[in-house]
Amino acid sequence: MLGNFSYKNATKLYFGDDSLRYLNEELPKYGKTVQLIYGGGSIKRTGLYDEIVTILKDNGKTVVEDGGVMPNPTVEKLYEGVRLARENDVDLLLAVGGGSCCDYAKAVSVSVHCDEDPWDKYYLRFEEPACEIVPVGCVLTMVGTGSEMNAGAVITNHAQKLKIGHVFGDEVMPKFSILNPMYTLTLPKRQMVSGIYDIFNHICEQYFSGEDDNTSDYIAEALMKSVIHSSLIALENPNDYEARSNIMWTATWALNTLISRGKSTDWMVHMLGQSAGAYTDATHGMTLSAVSLPYYRFILPYGLAKFKRFATEVWGVCPEGKTDEQVAEEGLAAMEAWMRKLGVALNLSELGATEDMIEGIADGTIILDGGYKVLTRDEVVEILRQSL
Ligand code: NZQ
Ligand code: ZN
Repeated sequence: MLGNFSYKNATKLYFGDDSLRYLNEELPKYGKTVQLIYGGGSIKRTGLYDEIVTILKDNGKTVVEDGGVMPNPTVEKLYEGVRLARENDVDLLLAVGGGSCCDYAKAVSVSVHCDEDPWDKYYLRFEEPACEIVPVGCVLTMVGTGSEMNAGAVITNHAQKLKIGHVFGDEVMPKFSILNPMYTLTLPKRQMVSGIYDIFNHICEQYFSGEDDNTSDYIAEALMKSVIHSSLIALENPNDYEARSNIMWTATWALNTLISRGKSTDWMVHMLGQSAGAYTDATHGMTLSAVSLPYYRFILPYGLAKFKRFATEVWGVCPEGKTDEQVAEEGLAAMEAWMRKLGVALNLSELGATEDMIEGIADGTIILDGGYKVLTRDEVVEILRQSL
């Protein structure tokens, strides 16, 4: 049965190769001071930084520079961003980059007017903001996380060896996001495929849960087929605008809360991958690909009907003359072949994880109960060992 739910998505999107000009429509809605958030320099190399600063200046804005957001943004960087926003009484946080910049902007947005320590409050105690939230806007340059249209914000605390995501409420979603697929053409292949696998896994996390006939699962299958199809074109020709724009749009739909409405969700691949990320600081999508096959092969018997459906509907496996188990396993084999073609990481060792980290990674893995099997800690350790 489709469960009861409410649905709202507060983010306004501008999509397409001319979408940056809509920044001129958004900026007048906010006060004078804009904190310009970006990463390690890709936007300076591509010229996007200059274009955006020009638009900000043309709109009479004072720009507060906040560059150097690292992949997997840290709690120390969060404190720095909060300090900057407070000192300059910032009116808008404008993130230009990938999920790391967008997530970081959201984490800053709920912390500027918060009296408590944001790491303790939001990431250890999972409390909701009780303060004014500074508005966030995004210009996306890396595709995968869906952060441009959701309220998630993942922060890493290296001292505590924890990487934790908080999914906030509607009020933390970006007010607007600008999605220009042209910006993604400069991504190195490793980032492109990592993002593609991240998209695919977001859909899996919401698909592999619940047994009921659910509209969301049909949408999920269509999104999976679209990302597989476009990924193969982009792999051949990374400059194929149609493929790159479809990948960008699919990423947004994969994690903008739509396909989780009315159903339970799993998210254990992300819990395992995130904890491994706290130890290795590896690229997000790669941490997911590294643990996915051992995890899905482990839970397959508990969700056999769905894994069979995944095989036939997503991968076109012919079920004739085969047991359900055979069909389901063929589906995962087809997924593995696709992952190999993409060139994503297939084990944690290649991301720098070692045997002696396993217990710690297991300790940092939050065990959720929405999937086909609620894992025990021993099972977490077993899956991590198989992922090495
Ligand atoms: O820092 P710069 O120099 O900009 O380089 C970045 C970075 O090194 C580079 N890059 C981005 N756009 C580029 C480019 N290089 C060339 N051309 C471009 N157009 O790509 C690298 C990775 O960027 P990053 O933002 O870290 O990647 P991603 O978008 O995968 O974000 C990862 C973060 O998002 C979190 C992850 O855990 C991780 O911390 N997630 C957020 C989620 C959410 N909000 O819902 C869900 C996800 O599951 C994920 O957990
Ligand atoms: Zn992800």
